[in-house]
This record gives sequence, C-alpha cells and structure tokens, in this order.
Amino acid sequence: MSNKQHGPAPTKWALDGREQDLIHYIYGRPDIKDIKGQPSKVLSAIDDYHRKFNMLMNIGSAKGQHIVNVINERKPSTMIELGVYVGYSAILFGNAVRSQGGKQYFGIEKNPEMAAVANQLVELAGLRDIVRILVGSSDEVLKELVQDKVINQIELIFLDHWQERYLPDMWLLEELNLLKPNVSVVIADNIIMPGAPEYRRWVEATTAQKRQIVTSDGSGALSPNPDLGYETILTKFDTDFGPDAVTITRVVGEDKA
Ligand SMILES: C[S@@+](CC[C@H](N)C(=O)[O-])C[C@H]1O[C@@H](n2cnc3c(N)ncnc32)[C@H](O)[C@@H]1O
Repeated sequence: MSNKQHGPAPTKWALDGREQDLIHYIYGRPDIKDIKGQPSKVLSAIDDYHRKFNMLMNIGSAKGQHIVNVINERKPSTMIELGVYVGYSAILFGNAVRSQGGKQYFGIEKNPEMAAVANQLVELAGLRDIVRILVGSSDEVLKELVQDKVINQIELIFLDHWQERYLPDMWLLEELNLLKPNVSVVIADNIIMPGAPEYRRWVEATTAQKRQIVTSDGSGALSPNPDLGYETILTKFDTDFGPDAVTITRVVGEDKA
C-alpha cells in the first residue's frame, strides 16, 4: 500500500484521530441504548468527551443556546450550515428546527471523513429525517443547491467553517440573490477567536460604506450586492478556547439609490 495521504494534515486541535475516537467512546458507553434517538443525550456525550479527553471545536452549549433562540424566533423551514465537523451544531440546530416545524437542515462539510463521523452521530440522535450532510466545499455546494432548485432563498444560515471563507461566501449568497429583505438571517461564529475582521466590517457597514469597500478594495471574481441593508448584533462569550463572539445579521432592506 502507498504511504500517500489524501486528507488534510492533523493540527494541534483536530484531525489527529480524536474524531474517530469520539465515535468509539460514544458507542462504547454503557448507556448507549439510552442515548439512541435522544439528541440532547448525544450532545451531552460529545460534551463529556470534550471535557474529559480531547477538546473538540464544537459550538458548545452557551453559544449554541444563543443560536437556538434565533431558530425558535425565526422558525425556518430550511436551515443551512457551512462547516459541520463532528455534527454537534447540526444535531443541536437540526433538532431545534424540527421542533419548530421545520423540514430541512443542510450541513455542508468539505472533509468527507468528518462528514462520515457527523452522519453517524446524526443517525444516533434520530435526526435522519431532517439533517442531511452534504460533502463538498461550501461555495460549490451552495451553487449546486441553487442550480438544482433545492433552494431559492436563505431563511437561516450558520457560517462556522474557516473564517477566511466567510466574506467570499457571504458575497456568493448576495451574488446568487439568496438574501431577501425581512426574510434572511445570517449567523457567524468565531468572530473574535480566531476572528473574521473583513466579514465583520462588511456586515456592520452601511450600504454607502459597502459601495465604497467594493470600489476601493475590489471583490475579485465575485459580484457582491452592497445595496442590501444589514442589521448586525454581536454577542460576546467566554468559551473553552478563550473570548469569542457570534454575529446575527438580519437583512432589513435593499437600497437602490
Ligand atoms: C469549527 S468546525 C465546525 C464546527 C461545527 N459547526 C460545530 O459547531 O459543531 C469547521 C469545519 O468547517 C469545515 N470546512 C472548512 N472549510 C470549509 C468549506 N469551504 N466548506 C465546507 N466545510 C469547510 C472543516 O472541515 C471543519 O470540519
């Protein structure tokens, strides 16, 4: 067998075998039969592993509850997540969407190995009917969902992949005309740690400031829509990884002036 590695290299915090070890830990627990079909118990088991063995880059309970509150208020029929990892947020938010009468939760994950782990935990949580994990890069999968007429607008989307992708993917949502005034809400994690300064500048800017940003900085191959008006609220949290913040951005209008 060749020694060639096809997947991404391990880091200090992930992809060193801990995600597979998590699955063994959960399936090896004496209470596995009680966990089955119970999203909150699957989440508690992931939290136990994170606390006792290896830290996992999950949204966690405090930021998670903050976002569940938005789901409960917005009651989306469809929610999309960019960056699934082992499926913690997909289980928490997929369950909340279903509890509010929603129909679909698409989790987009570019690492097929992480998608496999997430799929197994989604299955264990009994959320197969609502949560679908789509393997691929966020931009490619979003374009496919539009081309295939699976989505034509964003109700609620959660950005939690790599922070340098936040602004290009936000611009892609604008270019694809998926963001609708008084309908769409965009949530983003890790705004302080590791930080997403260019994304934050965009979602906190006025339409006039956004036109200026596009004119002065350019937007590469993408066609953002600076005319969309955003209202962004930033909420700070103390996390196991240090101080961080989540932004909630509501699309509130379109300034054609
Ligand atoms: C912080 S973790 C996600 C944590 C997860 N949302 C949770 O709270 O349980 C980031 C994930 O984004 C994935 N990712 C990075 N870039 C991506 C991209 N362009 N498209 C889709 N997934 C991506 C990584 O493979 C990783 O699994």
